[in-house]
Amino acid sequence: MIKIKHVTGTYKKGTAEIKALDDLTLDIAEGEFAAVQGPSGSGKTTLLMILGGMLRPAAGQVTIQDQDIYALSTGRRNRFRAAQIGFVFQMFHLVPYLSVFDNVMLAAVKLDARTRSRAQRLLDEFGLGHRSTHRPEELSTGERQRTAMARALLNDPPLILADEPTGNLDPENAGLVLDHLGEIHKTGRTLVVVTHGHEAERFATQHICLRQGRLA
Ligand SMILES: Nc1ncnc2c1ncn2[C@@H]1O[C@H](COP(=O)(O)OP(=O)(O)OP(=O)(O)O)[C@@H](O)[C@H]1O
Ligand SMILES: [Mg+2]
Repeated sequence: MIKIKHVTGTYKKGTAEIKALDDLTLDIAEGEFAAVQGPSGSGKTTLLMILGGMLRPAAGQVTIQDQDIYALSTGRRNRFRAAQIGFVFQMFHLVPYLSVFDNVMLAAVKLDARTRSRAQRLLDEFGLGHRSTHRPEELSTGERQRTAMARALLNDPPLILADEPTGNLDPENAGLVLDHLGEIHKTGRTLVVVTHGHEAERFATQHICLRQGRLA
């Protein structure tokens, strides 16, 4: 499913260069629940951004479903991402002036009635049916995270990338979100989930431990 070959991820700050990922090579097979762990600053978010086609690596190759994603033009990479990848961000990244429903619909590849009913169904499943016309600021943190999850799942993508989806949640909501991820995993999806604690232990089928941008 995913092949990461000699990937280096850097950020430029003026003349300085920060190496966030250092010559990383690893595979994630289809259907894995890969838990990415490591101390703060070890490159976990950088890895997810690179996998999501949002950050071009300074060196190396990322192949997802036999597609070298950075060999694609920006437009084709965007279309590939929209169809193949669902992303749950560390900070949710909901649009403050859109309703919960419209935030979910942001991910839509097609703005048809079928997608709209799927968006509503997902919100219902996540216990947010009654909140669909609210704006994110009117939601609790757990509800925001579930909105972000619904958005990630809208196109039924085969690959889900989630960056600390439980990081801002109390244990009960964290448990709910993890249970949902476990359910998604059971349907044959591939998941790459950044987690800080041992919370994903019960679902993870692969462990990726980073330390200073390398496998620990
Ligand atoms: N936009 C950026 N510009 C410059 N440096 C960055 C940028 N984003 C991340 N970094 C640096 O890259 C390194 C890896 O960052 P990254 O966000 O991938 O870590 P992380 O493992 O996700 O940490 P956390 O657990 O705190 O979220 C860190 O040293 C960080 O300071
Ligand atoms: Mg991070």
